[in-house]
Amino acid sequence: MGKSKVLVVGGTGYIGKRIVKASLEEGHETYVLQRPEIGLDIDKLQILLSFKKQGARLVQASFSDHRSLVDAVKKVDVVICTMSGVHFRSHNLLVQLKLVEAIKEAGNVKRFLPSEFGMDPARMGNAIEPGRVTFDEKMKVRKAIEEANIPFTYVSANCFAGYFVGNLSQMCTLLPPATDNVTVYGDGNVKVVFVDEDDVARYTIKTIDDPRTLNKTVYLRPPDNILSQRQLFEKWEKLSGKQLRKSTLSEHDLLSSMKGLDYAQQVGVGHFYHIFYEGCLTNFEIGEDGEEASQLYPDVNYTRMDDYLKIFL
Ligand SMILES: NC(=O)c1ccc[n+]([C@@H]2O[C@H](COP(=O)([O-])OP(=O)(O)OC[C@H]3O[C@@H](n4cnc5c(N)ncnc54)[C@H](OP(=O)(O)O)[C@@H]3O)[C@@H](O)[C@H]2O)c1
Repeated sequence: MGKSKVLVVGGTGYIGKRIVKASLEEGHETYVLQRPEIGLDIDKLQILLSFKKQGARLVQASFSDHRSLVDAVKKVDVVICTMSGVHFRSHNLLVQLKLVEAIKEAGNVKRFLPSEFGMDPARMGNAIEPGRVTFDEKMKVRKAIEEANIPFTYVSANCFAGYFVGNLSQMCTLLPPATDNVTVYGDGNVKVVFVDEDDVARYTIKTIDDPRTLNKTVYLRPPDNILSQRQLFEKWEKLSGKQLRKSTLSEHDLLSSMKGLDYAQQVGVGHFYHIFYEGCLTNFEIGEDGEEASQLYPDVNYTRMDDYLKIFL
């Protein structure tokens, strides 16, 4: 059996561009949606053209033109959508419902991977406002997929290293703290899972032709990257040779800090609460409706977080 043809929707995005690269590297015939709405966005156009140079095929289609979406998905076996879903950046998860409609009508798609790549929304039914919007919208998309009987894989990628590791999981920054002062969430011992974004893309592409992941959630839990915040601090202290000055933030103080923040920040604080206080990434065993990526694909030599942090020295 040949490798599936893949369409990436949202290919110029943060995780999308890595998925395009991984798909090409794995030898899939790779198509990338090119939306007319990008207009004069020269950066996006240049990214798309660079994909073309690497062998991808660009497919013109618009979310405002149903027929064009149907024609685009008809060209491939697998559709991966990496639609924006980070509030302080851009957030359009429900636009995917139009893609689901197109996939339903086209009828040929063997696997659809919607824009997930974070916490498992099915486990976030009790998430706090306003951050729960991310999970509620991802669940709406899941419902539409499943009602349309579209074969799927959901990728639960846990914490992207770019957002959670370089900054030692401090909010409102992407860099290690210049002052060496850090906030510890609660006792700092809750286990979190960190994954390099290129590994997220590699694992994602591995799932698409794998019968073991059909209609399942694939959790990315590379064992050496299941770390508490304190373990992450230790790695940085060892690498930098500096001692961090740690101050504890209680659950109550974190939640109280939401008052007065703007909407996007409140969403972020809520997500930090679930990850670092509740332990929502690791407080459950993977059940029959799930698989764990590093067990399925032991050949992926994933990036360890000490290696990841070296770039910040
Ligand atoms: N686990 C984590 O730590 C973590 C961190 C960040 C994100 N995520 C998740 O990853 C997923 C992707 O997020 P991202 O940050 O990679 O997204 P992003 O870079 O902000 O955007 C991805 C793409 O979405 C498309 N898009 C945006 N608005 C659109 C619209 N109105 N109509 C059509 N297409 C539109 C664009 O595609 P074009 O290429 O067509 O322009 C854009 O490049 C989300 O589900 C998010 O929740 C997880």
